[in-house]
Amino acid sequence: MKMLVTGGAGFIGSNFVHHVLSETDHSVTVLDKLTYAGNLASLEGLPKDRFEFVQGDICDAELVDELFSRHDAVVHYAAESHNDNSLDDPRPFLDTNIIGTYTLLEAARKHGIRFHHISTDEVYGDLELDDPERFTEHTPYNPSSPYSSTKAGSDLLVRAWVRSFGVKATISNCSNNYGPYQHVEKFIPRQITNVLRGERPKLYGTGENVRDWIHADDHSSAVLVILEKGEIGETYLIGADGEKNNKDVVELILTQLGQPADAYDHVNDRPGHDLRYAIDSTRLRTELGWAPRYDDFEAGLAATIEWYRANENWWAPQKAATEARYKAQGQ
Ligand code: NAD
Ligand code: DAU
Repeated sequence: MKMLVTGGAGFIGSNFVHHVLSETDHSVTVLDKLTYAGNLASLEGLPKDRFEFVQGDICDAELVDELFSRHDAVVHYAAESHNDNSLDDPRPFLDTNIIGTYTLLEAARKHGIRFHHISTDEVYGDLELDDPERFTEHTPYNPSSPYSSTKAGSDLLVRAWVRSFGVKATISNCSNNYGPYQHVEKFIPRQITNVLRGERPKLYGTGENVRDWIHADDHSSAVLVILEKGEIGETYLIGADGEKNNKDVVELILTQLGQPADAYDHVNDRPGHDLRYAIDSTRLRTELGWAPRYDDFEAGLAATIEWYRANENWWAPQKAATEARYKAQGQ
């Protein structure tokens, strides 16, 4: 299969490209604009005969048309992905997440190509800490931030293009990913690299907020299964039963790096901060036979810490500017 991966120079996209090229015989073309979040260094060492990189914007209809004409399937990761940035300046989120997805869907319609749309559990809003229910494929959409509302909008576009134009698409909504190649603006890499730099981790608000962590490699294996066996027009939730509150995660990072567990600062909370996400991935597991490989968060986190320790060249160029942005917001 010749696969086109949008946003393949970002965190989860690059993990997916590495996964596909090592686990299958497929060839991969990455289409990526290389925004601040894209990094070609995340795609080093891939087999040259099965990998191509194209720098470009998913809103560029002419480029997208040419690429769709010579591929069998598209996996769409490209997005503006960070909630805090969307509170600061929502516009790029509308352009890439809404208009970009629309541009791809129009090309998918023209070329009759198999399309998989990568989305997030944040489209469902948040849960109370003691709510026994978790998100399922039937949970109503209720996004909170400019980021999650544009992702929700893009999901709805995909559903409409399936129903109205017969586009052969599937959607997956995944929980919070961790692992190598994640930008230092995100929670886990920010705290790891702070400690490695001798800075204190920064916890928003009380730290009671819960995220449902999954290793990026498990996200990749789930997407491959959906591409191979998923039913057209359907949505699959991806999660690995990894609920943890932010305070516990910060304490774990500090402990694993040999620091006192309380050596962190409380900083300004995120406006509209979602309290808890939790995924019920029964459908994916029972209908498509998927299971996560990383079932031990502490071990996965330790490996991630080692990756950041060994790859300072990869993250150091982004660190100062990222921290300056946070500092300006009291975070
Ligand atoms: P990321 O910010 O690390 O990477 C996004 C990539 O998209 C970058 O390489 C960037 O250069 C590229 N890009 C941005 N705008 C583009 C455009 N207009 N044209 C072409 N390329 C463009 O994001 P991520 O964390 O890897 O997330 C990838 C996808 O997974 C997103 O759709 C996100 O909504 C979804 N998702 C993320 C998580 C998570 O925990 N990070 C969880 C569930 C779903
Ligand atoms: O749930 C999936 C989503 O997970 C994806 O759709 C998003 O693209 C991805 O960025 C992520 O969103 P979050 O907002 O949950 O991730 P973030 O890493 O920004 O923050 C995780 C939690 O940690 C959140 O409760 C806010 C908190 N936080 C974050 C930072 C950066 C802190 O306490 N301190 C911090 O410094």
